[in-house]
Amino acid sequence: MSIRPILIHPDPRLKKLCDPVESLSTEIGQLAEDMLETMYDAPGIGLAAPQVGVTRRLIVMDCVKEAEAPPRPMVLVNPVITWSSEARSVYEEGCLSIPEQYADVERPAEVRVRWTALDGTTQEEEFKGLWATCVQHEIDHLDGKLFIDYLTGLKRQMITRRMEKLKRERARA
Ligand code: NI
Repeated sequence: MSIRPILIHPDPRLKKLCDPVESLSTEIGQLAEDMLETMYDAPGIGLAAPQVGVTRRLIVMDCVKEAEAPPRPMVLVNPVITWSSEARSVYEEGCLSIPEQYADVERPAEVRVRWTALDGTTQEEEFKGLWATCVQHEIDHLDGKLFIDYLTGLKRQMITRRMEKLKRERARA
């Protein structure tokens, strides 16, 4: 396992429509393991493959918040939202590709998602609360969409400028 560098917005690879994972090769298994390690290390609750520069439809997440609860690392290959609730909820979102920037985003409160697990089986599950927000945020990444795309143009530009500055500073360091 190894920690992979996380791309910082703006980056063209974060704006791409990702291709489906066609076969569950050992590279895909390795990618999923690395992504989980990278996510826990960050630390974060979700990570999408394009954030580590792989434009394939694969996400990982673990939204267990209680310190004493066992972790629930999830790997979702080719995830698809099959149902969204009419009820909506607002969460303050952040993103490992947009460090230390947070904003309220409104999304469906509950979603049902179908995906392929690493063992090749098809899974389907309903998510609510933080899990629902996280899975929608991560699936958005696979369509080249970031949470700041839900904000007004002005807020988005402000955050993008901050990220450009951060990247310049990191490049100099
Ligand atoms: Ni994100």
